Amino acid sequence: MNDFGKFKLIGKSAVNVDAVDKVTGRAVYAADCNERGQLYGSTRYADVAHAEIVSIDVSAAASLPGVRAVLTHSDVPGRKSFGFVVPHQMVLCSDRVRFVGDAVAIVAAETQEAADEAAGLVRVQLNPLPVVSDPEEALSLGASSIHPDGNLCIHHKVRKGDVDLGLSQSDVVLEREYRTQKVEHSYIEPEAVLCRPGENGGVTIVGSVQNLYSIRRAVAGVLALPLNRVRITQATLGGSFGGKDEVMSAICCRAALLSLATGRPVKMVNTRENSMRESYKRHPYVMRYKVGASKEGLLKAMSIDIVADAGAYAGMSPFVTWRSVVQATGPYVVPHVRTDVRAAYTNNCYTGAMRGFGSPQICFAVESLMDELAEAVGKDPLEIRLMNALKRGSVTATGQKLEHNVSVAQALREVAEKGRFLETRKRFEKENAGDGAGRAGRASHGAAPPGAATPHGAAPPDGAGRRKGIGISCSYRGVSLGAEGVDAAGVTVSVQTDGSVVVSTGLVDMGQGASTTVSLVVAEELGVPLDKVRFLPADTSRLPDSGPTVASRTTLMAGNAARKACQELLARMRTAATKPLSFAELAELCFRQGISLYAHGWYKAPSTSWDDEEGHGDAYFTYVYGANLAEVEVDMLTGRVRVTRFVSSHDVGRVINLNGARGQVYGGVAMGLGYALLEEYSEENGIPALGNFDEYLLPTASDVPSVEVAFIENPDELGPHGAKTLGEPACEIAAPAIANAVANATGRRIRDLPLTLERVLLGKSLSRKGVRGSAKARRDS
Ligand code: MOS
Repeated sequence: MNDFGKFKLIGKSAVNVDAVDKVTGRAVYAADCNERGQLYGSTRYADVAHAEIVSIDVSAAASLPGVRAVLTHSDVPGRKSFGFVVPHQMVLCSDRVRFVGDAVAIVAAETQEAADEAAGLVRVQLNPLPVVSDPEEALSLGASSIHPDGNLCIHHKVRKGDVDLGLSQSDVVLEREYRTQKVEHSYIEPEAVLCRPGENGGVTIVGSVQNLYSIRRAVAGVLALPLNRVRITQATLGGSFGGKDEVMSAICCRAALLSLATGRPVKMVNTRENSMRESYKRHPYVMRYKVGASKEGLLKAMSIDIVADAGAYAGMSPFVTWRSVVQATGPYVVPHVRTDVRAAYTNNCYTGAMRGFGSPQICFAVESLMDELAEAVGKDPLEIRLMNALKRGSVTATGQKLEHNVSVAQALREVAEKGRFLETRKRFEKENAGDGAGRAGRASHGAAPPGAATPHGAAPPDGAGRRKGIGISCSYRGVSLGAEGVDAAGVTVSVQTDGSVVVSTGLVDMGQGASTTVSLVVAEELGVPLDKVRFLPADTSRLPDSGPTVASRTTLMAGNAARKACQELLARMRTAATKPLSFAELAELCFRQGISLYAHGWYKAPSTSWDDEEGHGDAYFTYVYGANLAEVEVDMLTGRVRVTRFVSSHDVGRVINLNGARGQVYGGVAMGLGYALLEEYSEENGIPALGNFDEYLLPTASDVPSVEVAFIENPDELGPHGAKTLGEPACEIAAPAIANAVANATGRRIRDLPLTLERVLLGKSLSRKGVRGSAKARRDS
């Protein structure tokens, strides 16, 4: 299909509307915001994982020169706690601390140095409690209780058919356990806010906030103010990836409390150490899969049991784990399914939304499992996926019949073709066998003809002991919130009398490119060039709550709302036109005729359904599909894995901004590569094992190969011009493709992420303890 020609702007590459501001330094990030007379805030953290608070003494802190306020829980005028799903996270702890990032007191002072010093002078007397650090132990009988109702945060289930029957009818049954690690979002910009005491006794906050409206609810509750007296505006964000959601409630509430107490603006910027200490992470999962299949490899049944570490507070865990339970079987037809996902409270740093939102974990498990099943029944990884893949009319694990173009097979074929999967696999097998391993060399994916000299020589000594492998993965993913919540969003479009346009929405650009995408939809609809459109950042007092900017929902939701607004405007403007006019002339004419040039488009997504008890429903109104392919080279002497080639294919429905879409894939793959090979935020007894990026291994440009992107466009009738979702799918299946490639290269199936040197070298899953202290070894290799 190719109706590329019908668009002027859509589908082509636009320069991001915020690009010039960002590269010239004109963009204003929250930490750039200053106000005359501002104070600086600092937080006194619990610093222990679990304890009773005996007493808090602020006298020494308060008497330090320059200190204007030291606040504790008793100074909170409204609700003492916040939390989008379960409002139990204390703004300032009163009787108990549950993780090292809990706040006990906050300070405002004339300088940052004085504020930090004073925070250190707050004396907290604590009575240590037993630390619960393992989520499975947390759920066992006799575990010390972290919250009054025990340690079970949530339990989701999916039930379809009769799993025991399905397993009994299977020729092959595999039982496997997979584990994923805790990881940090690692956005470049740490959390930052500036709070001004506003008119009407309220506050105005500008900050690095991903979800302005849910944060406003938290702040208003804590300050005991109506929503209209708390105004939150968005600064340019230096990345978020789901990370600047709930944790921003904490820092915004603190700044607002200090600001109201002192009557002065208060600025709070987290150091990287404090950001890592208190910002929630991606959940570690323990996943036990039991799969049954016919001897040909046709799936019969899956029984899945997953435990997630929620950490100290619920955060987004109930929603994150719901996506996991819906998608846990992968994009396959499975007649009999029983899935249980439980999240447990522990005294670890709490966990929440991070790019994928409960999918990267289950994608790693099920996509590793499919390779293991393929091997067990003597099929190749492509064939086993194709024969089990969902297609139009298939019924998902949750009992939803898919009535749209289901393109998982198309995506798989796309990467397999582009990456010459089957041929390459055969070739690598031959090369890896015998002395062939020595000839794998450095030249990647056959860029050089066989036998040609590489920069390291034709028979490189440094090629010795290298093996090559290739792997694939695929996924399906529900678009937007699904049955988690009500799904609606608005966009306002305001045409100026010179024909230029101002666009704004309650959904935000956090670096993902929403400002460009929404502007492109508007420009296309109105027939104006992109540079005539100005996108304004979100502001809770001027725009209606459009729900959170999450779940890769912005292109579809804001895109649809923007089209509605434009169509309403054009219909009105056309009534004024009597002869051919330029857009600017028409705008001027409308103004003179008293025709409103302002419209607010509101889009409500089709409804979804979910039955918690029965564990089924139409979970999402539509889905996207994708596939990844990775080639790796493994150094068999050190265990080092280099990803040498990557192909990523996603059915996005419709590409809006080609550059932006490619960027999403490059970033998603880089993030997925870090998840696969390098990153781990480890804790020992609730105490983080690392404090900053010097010990947290992130991929750099030299670790990421060039990524071939192959978009598929099957326009979805629900999306703007058919567009759906990309941000999270781009990230969720990179790790399993890499792990499958490593298994292909080495014959070693590693079921624990990340694939550290030790794990690859020893070919087994080491306990968490076994890999501690390995960060330096990996960096030095
Ligand atoms: Mo996202 S991880 O749904 O903010």
